[in-house]
Amino acid sequence: MLGVTAIKFDRSNQLQRRLHELVPGGAHTFAKGSDQYPEGMAPVLTHGRGARVWDVDGNEFVEYGMGMRAVTLGHAYEPVLEAVRKVLVDGISFSRPTELELAAAEDFLSVVPGADMVKFGKNASDATSTAIRVARAATGRDVVVICGDQPYFSAQDWFVGTLPINSGIPDAVRSLVKTFGYNDLDSLRAVLEEYDGRVACVMLEAASGMAEPAPGFLEGVRELCDRHGCVLVFDETITGFRWAAGGAQAVYGVTPDLSTWGKAMGNGFPISAIAGKRELMDLGGLNTDRPRVFLLSSTHGAETVSLAAFRAVVKAYRETDPVATMERQGAKLAAGVNAASAEAGLADVLSVIGRPSCQVFRTADGSGRPSQSMRTLFLAETLRRGVLGQSYVISAAHSDADIEQTVEAARGALPALRKAVESGRPEDLFEGRPVAPAHRLHAAPRRLTG
Ligand SMILES: Cc1ncc(COP(=O)(O)O)c(C=O)c1O
Repeated sequence: MLGVTAIKFDRSNQLQRRLHELVPGGAHTFAKGSDQYPEGMAPVLTHGRGARVWDVDGNEFVEYGMGMRAVTLGHAYEPVLEAVRKVLVDGISFSRPTELELAAAEDFLSVVPGADMVKFGKNASDATSTAIRVARAATGRDVVVICGDQPYFSAQDWFVGTLPINSGIPDAVRSLVKTFGYNDLDSLRAVLEEYDGRVACVMLEAASGMAEPAPGFLEGVRELCDRHGCVLVFDETITGFRWAAGGAQAVYGVTPDLSTWGKAMGNGFPISAIAGKRELMDLGGLNTDRPRVFLLSSTHGAETVSLAAFRAVVKAYRETDPVATMERQGAKLAAGVNAASAEAGLADVLSVIGRPSCQVFRTADGSGRPSQSMRTLFLAETLRRGVLGQSYVISAAHSDADIEQTVEAARGALPALRKAVESGRPEDLFEGRPVAPAHRLHAAPRRLTG
């Protein structure tokens, strides 16, 4: 354990066993599953404040990932809580809209000026799926083209059919989704020509933590969509409120026909949105003679708590600059960890990569190949040192002290990584089996045992 006091996960492990009995996968989100952590080291949390979280064994961690990137202002961010408390006491779900629906729509459209109309929902999967429905209705076409280099767009059939974990999705559904490469206009051109006259929409994240658009790429995508008569959809689920309040479209200056939003909109409160051009959005309204589109309608669609949270988030982005803070602190973290691994001669084994507000650590074996065993070892060594993070996705609440602790934890993990490189057997240095990809088809290699 290389000089670190042993950390205990006894109560977490007890609760995790029980969770596995009651909840398939032991968590309500695949990416939060115990199979994403070293065995016996998956903390069950009690609460969070700012960038820190606590678990049922009393351990305190600096956290990264921040609720699957949903939290940019920090946990329990007081102005958001205050706004929520204020509406909570007056009832949250009614049979008619409240004024809050109008105010929230006005706020949204003030930060996303390229959109004419917006409709709120509860999760981004519904938003992206609705965008596809609108595009199909508007164009009368069936094929959907998505960026195949980007990992996730929806929990609904049309997208899940493209994942390894695709049981239960008919081939007929899968056959309608085609892919192109990010920053590869030729691949988009090719697919649009192959399915000419059949493509309803092109959907992509305009940028991701790992890839910025090459000069002319987004403009080229826009131009190809216009030429082929398909709807351009930007999925701003991650980029919204992390690149800028107005998302990637505000940063790169290319306006999509529709955009989809979620995650950080409510600083953790469940709110999502589809937004875009009036002629498309109106297909779901009462101002059309065309057949109407079922455009994002749900029981909890506009409960007041999440709308109030959203409005407080917009206010925070108007009055402070959380994106700049994330960029600054993220850059400090990357510089600190990368310097530590370079000093140890392990720059190829541990590195921090990506946009500072949305970065990850990369763990590789001695020959530079990404390694789940090295990842598991790194996670175990840093958990022991009070850092909980499957990534280094940051929030504006990460202080210098949080960053320093994280850099020291990574530095502390380096001797174990070196030992693993030397022996070629990282799995000898942690308990149990390595972590495994969240969206794999089979429970193995982390099937529950005993
Ligand atoms: C880019 C992107 N789009 C859509 C989604 C789906 O969001 P939700 O989990 O809110 O349905 C996610 C979730 O991770 C995402 O990262």
